[in-house]
Amino acid sequence: MKVIYAKDYEELSRLTANIIISVINLTPNPVLGLATGSTPIGTYSALVDANKRGFVDFSETTTFNLDEYCGLNPSHEQSYRYFMNSHLLNHINIHKDNTFVPDGLAADMKQQARLYESLIEARGGIDLQLLGIGPNGHIGFNEPDTVFHKETHTVELTQSTIEANSRFFGSSELVPKQAVTMGMGTIMAAKRIVFISTGKAKEKITKRALFGEVTPEVPASLLQYHPNVTAICCFN
Ligand code: PGA
Repeated sequence: MKVIYAKDYEELSRLTANIIISVINLTPNPVLGLATGSTPIGTYSALVDANKRGFVDFSETTTFNLDEYCGLNPSHEQSYRYFMNSHLLNHINIHKDNTFVPDGLAADMKQQARLYESLIEARGGIDLQLLGIGPNGHIGFNEPDTVFHKETHTVELTQSTIEANSRFFGSSELVPKQAVTMGMGTIMAAKRIVFISTGKAKEKITKRALFGEVTPEVPASLLQYHPNVTAICCFN
């Protein structure tokens, strides 16, 4: 694992965007795994800027998002489809048909999860997976547990995640209690992972994940077993 300490959030975002741009420019039909949350917003804005300036072309890129809340319509402002459209996908020259977010409204979640896995496989797997980390060590919505869950699946969100995300909904009661997420196996199958973490409040859990014991109690710790992870951190 390569660990980079950025001097500030702007540098973290620029470095992350540069790695993503390199992978897009070096890979035929690149497939990106994307994350939501406040951490990647600066990265997405750097990607939009690079696309406008002609440094990167998304016309052959496919994207798969990590997760989605159950029960939220894609037009809901807190849905992850809405987030991706408004922070990135509406502003770059990507074909929307090549952008995928798990369907939080699917009637049969198990079937939907299998479909998501097979779509990723059909596109040749993920070339670069971008990841943030939750305050409890989750990646995607893989919450702390006694086992690592391998494939895309439905999860009950922990109280810690509900509290952390209540800032977007105005109240914790309004945060959906379930989500669908890529599994740890889906994430670990990505050819390259870029993990980003920012802010003093994330320092302890991030160090535990990157350098501590590998345990499903800290799902991100499994990344220590991935052969190609770049972690970009800024705890100032
Ligand atoms: P954040 O969320 O970027 O908003 O801190 C990260 C996460 O929960 O994965």
